[in-house]
Amino acid sequence: MATRILQVILGVAGLGALALGILIWTMGLNVYAIHMLFGLIVALTLLVGGILAVTTRELRIWGIVGIIYALIVPVFGVTQFGILPGGLHWLIQTAHLLVGLGAIALAGNLVTRSLALKRMGSNGAATRSQIVR
Ligand code: HEM
Repeated sequence: MATRILQVILGVAGLGALALGILIWTMGLNVYAIHMLFGLIVALTLLVGGILAVTTRELRIWGIVGIIYALIVPVFGVTQFGILPGGLHWLIQTAHLLVGLGAIALAGNLVTRSLALKRMGSNGAATRSQIVR
């Protein structure tokens, strides 16, 4: 149940951030605030996924990666205006898009796998190793 709720929150916020980001990019629409709100929800879901993963034995390193990544996403988001302004700014925009997509993928992955490990408890070493792979 918790997995499903987090997946739905992530799906809605991720799609919302992506769709609004593309509208900002292609049509110059002024939807920054709501885009940043969706983006922040993605980052918070990644933070939750990272914290859940850190509390498992198998995904501890990925959990640390997730927590650090969750801090980078909003910092990069709000500072990107000023990075490489001018002709090369598309590089930063593309990097921001990729960082955002990476955050969505990593959050979904960590939430699903760490909650599956927690449901399983310490039983079934063979099945646990399948989740980790
Ligand atoms: C807290 C998180 C986020 C913040 C603060 C944030 C902030 C911003 C800002 C300020 C812009 C406009 C930049 C400009 O016009 O130069 C932007 C654009 C954009 N964002 Fe985000 N964003 C966040 C998360 C995400 C996520 C998760 C995605 C998912 C794919 C995403 C995708 C995009 C895209 C495609 C654009 C248009 C291209 C660009 O300007 O980079 N953002 N974002």
